[in-house]
Amino acid sequence: MPTTIKLDFQRDAIAVARKAADTIAGAVRANPAVVLGLATGSTPEGTYAELIRIHKEEGLSFVAVTTFNLDEYLGLSGDHSQSYRQFMQTRLFNHIDTRPWNTHCLNGLAADPELEAEAFETKIRSCGGVDLWLLGVGSNGHIAFNEPGSPPDCRTRVISLTSETIAANSDGRFYSDPKDVPRQALTAGIATIYDARSILLLATGAHKAAPIAAAVEGSPSPECPASFLQGHADCTFILDADAAGDLSAN
Ligand code: F6R
Repeated sequence: MPTTIKLDFQRDAIAVARKAADTIAGAVRANPAVVLGLATGSTPEGTYAELIRIHKEEGLSFVAVTTFNLDEYLGLSGDHSQSYRQFMQTRLFNHIDTRPWNTHCLNGLAADPELEAEAFETKIRSCGGVDLWLLGVGSNGHIAFNEPGSPPDCRTRVISLTSETIAANSDGRFYSDPKDVPRQALTAGIATIYDARSILLLATGAHKAAPIAAAVEGSPSPECPASFLQGHADCTFILDADAAGDLSAN
């Protein structure tokens, strides 16, 4: 099956962030009540900073926007400094006019995580589905916390993090010691993401070149969960030169 993934080559991480923020801002202007799916991690930080600038300098309002986040560490409360809820509050929500009741993050302390996962899927459906889901990609090809081995039809659930993901998240950017990284997370599934009307995956840095090449050029396979985005009707990868690797020469 030929891939339908569109590739958008940008010079560097700053240009990737600008392009992603412009695309999201355009979606909000076109539909002020747009439903956005959001990611955490280093990659979208520049995009969120640029959205804050657009909000403050250009008056873009997020007051009617609904958001869903991809994942949350199991065992962390929403006000833990390393929770993804806190990440979103400090990097974006505290600086724009989203309404707290419209921003949905999985609850890492849910008494019944499976029920929490089901409720998340139900909530997305009741909001009419996600219009645009912003993603990063792990160096092992994961999207959200769908680690290698995840099937294309998986939905929101509890997952155990791989040692590679634990190492990546304890390199000093978020955690400094692998021992401190939670071992499990709640994550939106691949099918949950694939249901979005449009998908924007961002990748920057040479350590993302291999998963990006596998996602775009490899056969869709659980070994590289991002490869399951092939075939989506509206999926764009915005890549800096390092993450694009040889793809930009083709
Ligand atoms: C984050 C997420 C992850 C990250 C991925 C890349 O919510 O779901 O899939 O997008 O691990 O992380 P960074 O951007 O830190 O390289």
